[in-house]
Amino acid sequence: MAKNITVLGTGYVGLVSSVGLADFGNTVTGVDLRTDIVDTLNGGRSTIYEIGLEEYLQRDLESGRLSFTTDGDAAIADADIVFFAVGTPPKADGHADLSQIEAAARQVAANLTGYKVVVTKSTVPVGTNRRVQNIIAEASGKTPGTHFSVVSNPEFLREGKAVQDFFHPDRIVIGYEDDRAREYMEDVYRALYLIQTPFVWCNLETAELIKYASNAFLATKITFINQMANLAEAAGADIHQIAKSMGMDGRISPKFLHPGPGYGGSCFPKDTKAVAATGDEYGVDMSVIKAVIEANDHQKVITAGKLMRLMGGSVSGRTVAVLGLAFKAETDDVRESPAIDIVQELLREGATVRAFDPEAMDNFKTAVVGEGPFGNNLNSDLQEQIAEAAASRLHYCSDEFDALTGADALIIVTEWNAFRNLDMDRAADAMSGRLIFDARNVLDPERAREKGFTYAGVGRV
Ligand SMILES: NC(=O)c1ccc[n+]([C@@H]2O[C@H](COP(=O)([O-])OP(=O)(O)OC[C@H]3O[C@@H](n4cnc5c(N)ncnc54)[C@H](O)[C@@H]3O)[C@@H](O)[C@H]2O)c1
Repeated sequence: MAKNITVLGTGYVGLVSSVGLADFGNTVTGVDLRTDIVDTLNGGRSTIYEIGLEEYLQRDLESGRLSFTTDGDAAIADADIVFFAVGTPPKADGHADLSQIEAAARQVAANLTGYKVVVTKSTVPVGTNRRVQNIIAEASGKTPGTHFSVVSNPEFLREGKAVQDFFHPDRIVIGYEDDRAREYMEDVYRALYLIQTPFVWCNLETAELIKYASNAFLATKITFINQMANLAEAAGADIHQIAKSMGMDGRISPKFLHPGPGYGGSCFPKDTKAVAATGDEYGVDMSVIKAVIEANDHQKVITAGKLMRLMGGSVSGRTVAVLGLAFKAETDDVRESPAIDIVQELLREGATVRAFDPEAMDNFKTAVVGEGPFGNNLNSDLQEQIAEAAASRLHYCSDEFDALTGADALIIVTEWNAFRNLDMDRAADAMSGRLIFDARNVLDPERAREKGFTYAGVGRV
């Protein structure tokens, strides 16, 4: 039987989940604290760029099964199931900040009108769902398993492919404790059951750790290939052939073996830090993940340093075109994007930056000077200096050729498809210099060199 669902938080995960769960036939109310988000969504416009999302949003709004509100109390009181899709950002010590989760748990306790299943979709450290259970039990005086049940249902969607991933997930992981909760979750995901999506039923702690283990492993794989690329470059080898051959081994798989400027985004940086902090809490050695965090930070420094070196040691007074600002292609998300560090470094070193991204310009504008909607990694001491430099030396351009106009050098930071087929003749006409640093290896080096460019990629000669 389709369920009445409330989703708390309509950010990336909450919005995609609200739309997807409504499309499965459930009645869904998405709740956010921000009126602007709720108004935009009720108007049929998506607040994030994600292929296909706006079409689904409009279709589900029209069906009457989906709506958005800021009134969390009423939405919770009416629901059979409450999903938590609120943020769990990193604290300064690396631990996940669980204040939004705890506030949501207290809000559920205050509106526990009948039996409800409370489902955590946010990424939370091991032990959090049990904490949620305790908060609700203590604040409401009600009994877990009888008046409410807590379920852990971590989300694995990839930004850029979020809609596709929601409807065709590799697996659905559900940590649960009682059969009634399991039946509710079977109803919620019946549409995926029918297409034989693998379901992993496990305890709360296992579900929580599956999410962290997966993200930490993927972050490790990226970092591994980045370091291998650095070594290949130093030794005169070709990382493309190395990665391709490694990927032919079924035990390794070819995915996540693309070198670049370091991973970013809203998940890998914070989830690796959180799992390392959890290891410290339990007194368990997490040195592999700690090394990954350090190596990834260093990869951004290496990338910026390499551009400086290619430009003769100084960028002061020079103009650099930066193509790609999102942390990866097909998204407008700039959270922890390597482009932030690279542009800030260029501005600090006296360069003029001409920047372009097909989708992430607005988010980047605020993030680069420290006022982004998602927060960013700007060192606060330098905030004023960066803001001042950005005002006079950072230009947002209308397309890639506008960005290239008068540039001494080009750096490609995000692997957008549009950049793969960059028209080299037009690029050469627009630029005043002839240097390309392809930090994502998206261009054909030969084509670039034929047109008279000095081309540098990552991990290849
Ligand atoms: N972004 C991803 O690709 C991704 C993928 C998998 C898992 N996750 C996890 O999902 C969670 C959410 O991530 P996100 O990127 O969607 O976050 P986000 O910051 O984009 O969105 C969170 C939203 O929750 C709202 N909110 C906070 N407290 C609320 C409350 N009490 N009631 C209603 N709304 C409230 C905020 O206003 C915000 O809009 C995080 O734990 C994240 O780690 C994210």
